[in-house]
Amino acid sequence: MSSLPDPRAERTLEVSGLQVSVGDHLVAVQDVSFSIGRGESVGLVGESGSGKTLTCRAVLGLLPASGAIDHGRITLGDGADEVELTALRRSAWDRVRGLRLGAVFQDPASYLNPSLTVGHQLAEQLRVKRRLSRKDAHHRSVELFAEVGLRDPDAVFHQYPHQLSGGMLQRVLIAIAVSCEPELLIADEATTALDVVIQAEILALLRRLRETHGLSLLLVTHDLAVVAETCERILVMYGGQIVESGPTEQVLRNPQHPYTQALMGVATIGDWQRRTLDVIPGQPPAAGEEMPGCRFAPRCVFASDRCTTGPVDLTDLGQDRAARCVLVEQPTAQAPTKKVSA
Ligand SMILES: Nc1ncnc2c1ncn2[C@@H]1O[C@H](COP(=O)(O)OP(=O)(O)O)[C@@H](O)[C@H]1O
Ligand SMILES: [Mg+2]
Repeated sequence: MSSLPDPRAERTLEVSGLQVSVGDHLVAVQDVSFSIGRGESVGLVGESGSGKTLTCRAVLGLLPASGAIDHGRITLGDGADEVELTALRRSAWDRVRGLRLGAVFQDPASYLNPSLTVGHQLAEQLRVKRRLSRKDAHHRSVELFAEVGLRDPDAVFHQYPHQLSGGMLQRVLIAIAVSCEPELLIADEATTALDVVIQAEILALLRRLRETHGLSLLLVTHDLAVVAETCERILVMYGGQIVESGPTEQVLRNPQHPYTQALMGVATIGDWQRRTLDVIPGQPPAAGEEMPGCRFAPRCVFASDRCTTGPVDLTDLGQDRAARCVLVEQPTAQAPTKKVSA
């Protein structure tokens, strides 16, 4: 008897029980667990300050100097290729970052050396990480520049970062990020600073690279429309915690957490394609702000006393969905259905 294959049977990334603090032991990410299957695209969404970037940086081993992983496990790969990132020594990161994990961020210029041509920077990565000869690295670099949609890749090879537009720089960074065929590409607000047309082109490029390179993708954004277009699963983050997760289509069609509903409410007012999330009334909690119960309760239109009397855990809702809300905790209670308007 053969059963249907589990799309996440081969795991690319597993994060479990992650807690990250910054500054003077201020907890900014707590109890974060999720996994990404081989070739899967997962969207991480939430208002600014919700802990998305720190989660990515913890995975990449690139936390700020004042940041630390307090506890949790982060595992890359499966079976013989499995490596626990949280236990890696600094020297071992060289065999993971760039090679098995690629990343692109919002401000590509700050990740490139202004005094070296972009071609040199990509070729150097190929020479050092993939041990290509100078000639092969040059050849492959031009190929990669063409693959990420840079017109006249031979000319781009010899240009310096200041000679390229923001969209072109992001393409260069994407070429560098995928040059060593990583298993996972993390894109943290990689298109946020770009105009809408270029943003759409870069997203289409990421989708294409996913297919041609068999990449898994962790896409961080505050734009629900981007997740809807690009990601099979969605993780909704609030106040350092994941408050809802599941298949993107189901979550966006029938959100169970009042925060996700509020985001949808914001998104459905006017042009839902391009609204940002930062217009829900009230403020999200700051890093280190301790709250006895649900961290969204002060802004939640459904909040009652029992939301603030004890910890609220993620409830497994079946069918790969989960939500962190007292209204879904009780099997007898009705899930909130009222649309929240901002
Ligand atoms: N280097 C840092 N020092 C102090 N606090 C930080 C630092 N980086 C992030 N934080 C705080 O941690 C929280 C989460 O930040 P971040 O992960 O950048 O959120 P997001 O990417 O969702 O906007 C915020 O409250 C932010 O102010
Ligand atoms: Mg961020």
